[in-house]
Order: sequence, then structure tokens, then C-alpha cells
Amino acid sequence: MNIMNNFFTANVADTDPIVADAINSEVRRQTDGLELIASENFVSEAVLQTMGTVFTNKYAEGYPAKRYYGGCEFADVVENLAIDRAKQLFGCDHANVQPHSGAQANMAVLLAALEHGDTILGMSLAHGGHLTHGHPLNFSGINYKVADYGVNQDTEQIDYDELQKKAEESRPKLLICGASAYPRIIDFERIGEIARSVGALVMADIAHIAGLVAVGLHPSPVPHCDFVTTTTHKTLRGPRGGMAMCKEQFAADLNKRVFPGVQGGPLIHIIAAKAVAFGEALKPEFKSYQQQVLDNAKALAETLTAAGLRIVSGGTDNHLLLVDVYMDGKGITGKEAEKALDEVHITVNKNTIPFDTQKPFVASGIRVGTPALTTRGMNEDDMRAIGNMIAAIIHDPESEDVKTNVRRDVAELTSRYPMYKTEHSERVSITSL
Ligand SMILES: Cc1ncc(COP(=O)(O)O)c(C=O)c1O
Repeated sequence: MNIMNNFFTANVADTDPIVADAINSEVRRQTDGLELIASENFVSEAVLQTMGTVFTNKYAEGYPAKRYYGGCEFADVVENLAIDRAKQLFGCDHANVQPHSGAQANMAVLLAALEHGDTILGMSLAHGGHLTHGHPLNFSGINYKVADYGVNQDTEQIDYDELQKKAEESRPKLLICGASAYPRIIDFERIGEIARSVGALVMADIAHIAGLVAVGLHPSPVPHCDFVTTTTHKTLRGPRGGMAMCKEQFAADLNKRVFPGVQGGPLIHIIAAKAVAFGEALKPEFKSYQQQVLDNAKALAETLTAAGLRIVSGGTDNHLLLVDVYMDGKGITGKEAEKALDEVHITVNKNTIPFDTQKPFVASGIRVGTPALTTRGMNEDDMRAIGNMIAAIIHDPESEDVKTNVRRDVAELTSRYPMYKTEHSERVSITSL
């Protein structure tokens, strides 16, 4: 609509050239590099545009039709839409779309499910879990007693019998499942049974796999778990933010814990963009996109394996893989790999692997994900080419010849897949923010 376009005639380059320059550089970095960080994605132009609208000006503490401020009628429209679409996508009883981030969604659930000092049982960060699942430096580890579980040393996959034992030993009030760096299907049904067998509530954090769950390419936790949280910006491909879902009986408590428990005013511009992204995720194309994410991850894993690298757990069922680049001293550390790949414009993050001998800041592995490059349109052939580029760098990180060749290949590949329409990226990058 014209009104929106008019807002985009303002020019950051004139009012704040330093920020405009950083934005330009970031546009170029994202466009010219291969983005393989598993938790990142590229939102659509519609989502991007919605985030930059006048909804950012609006205070709307409370919930639709029950606000603490006047003038919320249009805020109500977008929040109700986001809620309805979230419920349709995930088939949940209740959705709260206000959490500013995944961490805040988790905090709200812990406040709703627990009393201070209660016991939680979560997957350890070192085996793929998240800080908010009980790390000692996080609110979850500070305010609650923590027991943890991990993967089996041989299979590098969750051992559900072992988890049952841990649950019986620790008698948690809340069992937390879901992960940041786990490449396999999570058996939410089994985890729900384990939780119920010890009288615990269960929260599934599907921050990483939400897009796959939404289209049925990963089993849904919704029928088996009391609470389900997610970020909206990873495989779900929405704006940076969080969401918390639950069974009807916890709905009022959860809402109270998000606001006023954890947050003040909701970010209505982000909630509007969540509504847009959920609308996109309800379209059939989104399922084809998620299938391609999976196919690409498999192709990448196969190529890296064929090139002599070790894939943790032997492969992947989802959008990410953990690559053991250290291989007991035969390779390089995750830290070295991340830096060497950065130099050729391939972006990954170092990551510990289960039972790692290296410190977390050094790590034996890298985590690699396909959501972002799949959004750009890349396919299995491209993944095979990228896998060979990654392997070439890891096998010979000091070689200037290898780096020159890979930089050339990255430039050639990225030029074939423009990130946003050229006209738009010029508009974004140069004149109109
Ligand atoms: C499993 C999981 N939960 C929660 C979060 C936290 O999300 P945010 O960074 O939005 O707070 C992440 C982010 O990486 C995650 O991977």
C-alpha cells in the first residue's frame, strides 16, 4: 500500500550514515556469503516490511480486548490473527505470541509450571540442549534444581531408557525436551510417557524444528506435551521472536507469566510480522520448502562424510548436522574451522560434540544447517558443491590456493541465487531505511 511505501522514502543514509553503512555492509555480507548457521533464515520481503512499520510505536500491554492502553484496535487485529494462525499451524489449544524471544517463552513456562526451587530435568547443553533448559548461569539453573540427560556415547542419540531412569532418580516437576544442536528425530510421545510415569509436566522447546513440525515433517509434541515453546525465526522463517503454546488448562497461567510475569509491552510490529510469517507457513509451498531443507541437509551430510569428515550420530533427520572436524586430533578444532570458513565467506558456528574433549569455546565440531540457503533456492547439487568446499578448507585450512578457489566458488554460487529481488536489496541497502 502507498502509505507503507511512503514511510520507506525516509533515508537512513542521510540521517545516520554510520548505521546506514553498517546495514549496507550486512546486506552485502548476507548476500555474498553462504549462510549455514542452523538457527538462521532469511525472512520474506513481506515479513521484513511488516517489522518496519508504525506498529513499533504502539504500547499494548495486556491481551486483545483486555489492554491497559487505548488505541489498540489494530494491534488486536494482528495479535488475534497471529494467535489464530499459530493454533492452526500447530493444532494447539492455546498460543501466546508475545514472548520477545525463545528464552522469554521458556522463562514464562518455567514460571507457570514450577515453584522456585523445584526440580527440572533438561538435556545438557553439552549434548545439544539449550541454556534455558537448566544451565547454571541461566535463570533456569539459578532458580531451579537441575538434573540433566544427554545422548548415548555409542549412538550419539537420546537414550530413552536412560532418560526414564534419570526421571525416576530425579523426580522432576518439569521434564524439558527439545534442543539447539540435535540432528535426530525427538520421540515426543515417549518423552510424554516418561514424564507422566513420574508425575512430571513436560515442555517441548521446538525452537529449531518448528517449521518441520508445522508441516508434519517432524512428529509434533503438541499431543504429548503440556507446554510447547518455540522461536519464530529459525526453520519457521518469521521475525526474531518467541511463542509459547500450552494445553487449555494452563492457558491463563501462561498468559499471566508472559505478561506481567516476564515482559511489559508486546512488540506489536513483531507480532504483526509473526502473523504474516504464520500465514506463509500455512501455504503448501512452505511444506515443499521444508522438504527441501531436509533433502539439502542429507545431501550435505553425505558429501561431508564422503570427503572424510565425521557426522555426529552418523547423519541427520532434520535441518542441521553436527560435524566432528577435530576427529580425535586428526583434523582441526571447531574454532579453527569456523575461522577458516569465515575467511572464505562460509558462515557456520563452532559447536561442542557429545563427550567433547575440547572446551566449549574451542570445541571439536561445527554445526551446519540448511534453512537459510534453502530459502535462497539452493538444492542438493549446490549442497554437494558446498560440502566439497567445506571439506577442502577443513582438510587444508592454511592453503591460500584452496581459499582463493573456494572464495571464487562461493561468489559464483551466491550470484546465481539473489537473496532478495535486486531492486529491493538496493532499496534496502542504499536509500530507504
Ligand atoms: C532450543 C532453543 N531454545 C531457545 C532458544 C532461545 O531463543 P532466543 O535466542 O530467541 O532467546 C534457542 C536459540 O538458539 C534454542 O535453540
